Amino acid sequence: MKQLLTGLLLVMTVTASAQKAGDAKMKSFIDALMKKMTLDEKLGQLNLPGSGDIVTGQAQSSDIGKKIREGKVGGLFNIKSVAKIKDVQKVAVTESRLKIPLIFGMDVIHGYETVFPIPLGLSCSWDMKAVERSAQIAAKEASADGICWTFSPMVDICRDPRWGRIAEGNGEDPYLGSAVAKAMVKGYQGDLTKNDNIMSCVKHYALYGAAEAGRDYNTTDMSLQRMYNEYLPPYKAAVDAGVGSVMASFNDVNGVPATANKFLQTDVLRKQWGFKGFVVTDYTGINEMEAHGLGNLQTVSSLALKAGINMDMVGEGFLTTLKQSLKEGKVTMADIDNSCRLILEAKYKLGLFDNPYKYCDENRAKTEVFSDANRNEARKIAADCFVLLKNQNNVLPLKKAGTIAVVGPLADNRENMPGTWSVAAKFDKAVSLMDGLKAAAGNNAKFIYAKGSNLDADAAFEERAGMFGKSLGRDNRPASVMIQEALDASKDADVIVAALGESAEMSGECSSRSDIQIPETQRALLKALVNTGKPVVLVLFTGRPLAIKWESENVPAILNVWFGGSEAGNAIADVLFGDVNPSGKLTTTWPQNVGQVPLYYAHKSTGRPLPEGKWFEKFRSNYLDVSNDPVYAFGYGLSYTTFTYSDVKLSATKLKGNQTLTASVTVTNTGNKDGKEVVQLYLHQLIGVNTRPVKELKGFEKIALKAGESKTVTFNISTADLKYYHFDMTNDWDPGDFEVMIGGSSDHVKKATVNWSK
Ligand code: BGC
Repeated sequence: MKQLLTGLLLVMTVTASAQKAGDAKMKSFIDALMKKMTLDEKLGQLNLPGSGDIVTGQAQSSDIGKKIREGKVGGLFNIKSVAKIKDVQKVAVTESRLKIPLIFGMDVIHGYETVFPIPLGLSCSWDMKAVERSAQIAAKEASADGICWTFSPMVDICRDPRWGRIAEGNGEDPYLGSAVAKAMVKGYQGDLTKNDNIMSCVKHYALYGAAEAGRDYNTTDMSLQRMYNEYLPPYKAAVDAGVGSVMASFNDVNGVPATANKFLQTDVLRKQWGFKGFVVTDYTGINEMEAHGLGNLQTVSSLALKAGINMDMVGEGFLTTLKQSLKEGKVTMADIDNSCRLILEAKYKLGLFDNPYKYCDENRAKTEVFSDANRNEARKIAADCFVLLKNQNNVLPLKKAGTIAVVGPLADNRENMPGTWSVAAKFDKAVSLMDGLKAAAGNNAKFIYAKGSNLDADAAFEERAGMFGKSLGRDNRPASVMIQEALDASKDADVIVAALGESAEMSGECSSRSDIQIPETQRALLKALVNTGKPVVLVLFTGRPLAIKWESENVPAILNVWFGGSEAGNAIADVLFGDVNPSGKLTTTWPQNVGQVPLYYAHKSTGRPLPEGKWFEKFRSNYLDVSNDPVYAFGYGLSYTTFTYSDVKLSATKLKGNQTLTASVTVTNTGNKDGKEVVQLYLHQLIGVNTRPVKELKGFEKIALKAGESKTVTFNISTADLKYYHFDMTNDWDPGDFEVMIGGSSDHVKKATVNWSK
């Protein structure tokens, strides 16, 4: 043991001194380069125009070639293909004075050409190895196509399903969100000396998911302790995992937009967390501070630089105004130098000074992008992200036999499958539900298709929800005629599969909704289908938790499939036919209606909690018209088998100081199918110095159990798990009694109590 420790220490010392030597070499290289740079060239490094190849917002820079030659561009984003990237890089390294290479970024959010489920879906796998693998594959594909930097992971905690960008994050929980953040950064960055890893950019820092009323880009105002306890942990986890860059969010945070928020960008990020990479704005985040009301472009650009922003995406506020601000003493040369250095360091770490064409190997894309192997992996991962919400009388799995009616506006559409923020996707090659079902069942089953309804009765809504030209196509017949057609098509069916919910662009950026139900016209179709008395399976497409109380009470089976990526249709078929046993669990709470929002499992008790099992009691914290319960709780999800949990066994019932507690349960697969279960650990501090959440996730493990098999799962709990930021911002734990809860869902746990003294 002693020998092992000495060996380990030696390895650590050697690694640390190699790191130091590497850092010194990088410093002297950059020192020498910066000595040669003019002020204009330094400002050029801070400039990140969009390429115009893929457009993700308003206002793009023009004359990019000329600017690159003049040394006025640090990098370019959303440009696709080695050929194009190589051409542009060639201009930078042969025609600009100092031949500084560019970095090439892209929104590689949930896969590149091989698309994985939307991040909210991916988080429902609760499988961090799968999450990491998806990022690794995305990095391999993007880097084979010339990209060296991705604007991912998005780790904004969100408890408001009205916000469309909830689709891009990992749900409501900081513990799970942190685990995903770490896995994604690891998957993308791996070893940056290799040419198949890319630099990651965690976003949107910070608190972008707490936009008031769920309206995109809206104000956030939050206490410091909520910020530190509930919203900041995933960003910090990404920083701890070594993320190379951070993207500032658009929103106003406690009175100062994140883009000019020195507290966030310098005090927290750099001083408290020790972040060493660079911070980029989100798109025209600097320019938008004019509309926020902080001054003209010159003023807001200097505010951003002073706050700790290093790179300006699209807006060119840095490029066009910082020189004047320097003259006027509003920024210093040291401010500009510091930002320039951080960007040059990133390029150095990516190896671009050694080889500007490191990511420009023309041969790789042919075999490494959208390969069969990658698509198979996407199919497997997607199937593990779907959440079986209901399965009355075991309607599912379906037999690959008989007549299956497939109905709904989302059933036979490929473009809609990859989901929001799939900018590099091959939409025409995505697998629709109809494709997937037919491929799985071959000639053994007969499929009858009818669209049954439009996405929404309102054509204008449908157009808004079809941004980026991906509309579902509109049927101009009256709704009643379309429903009748679907009923006729279902007449001889043994089972009806209804593919309903949201289109891909009903979630994502600028896709907030004030009504989070399935659109009315689709619900009318669903009701008509249910009224036939035939078994109906709702295959629910969505980028957010939806209010589906009626559906949960009336539709026999519901499989929530998010947007499953390139292989969605195959993966859905795998689950519907039982070739894969579903194992996803929700990472958000699904409310009964929008009025309950924000509704989340880790809420406080209040001084007047409602007794469990009650709907209403006068002078309690509740509503007159709806109970406090969700339709589906955080952590919930069914399987085609069943699991039982033993009582929670604790290693001790009394602990002191920095001792460690182990808590274990034995989980048994009591059904007759092999399956996977997400075992979840929650803690509740019964009495605290501050009020404490009724439960908080503190551990989880996804296990595979054969039919009849049992496994014991053990969690280690230390005082680090008990710590929280108090009202006065001390980060400590309070002695007292804690409930240790373990179960397969946040609302279905076994409990034991421990006393932990100081
Ligand atoms: C989004 C970011 C994205 C950026 C670049 C912005 O509109 O908020 O998430 O990375 O565009 O495309």
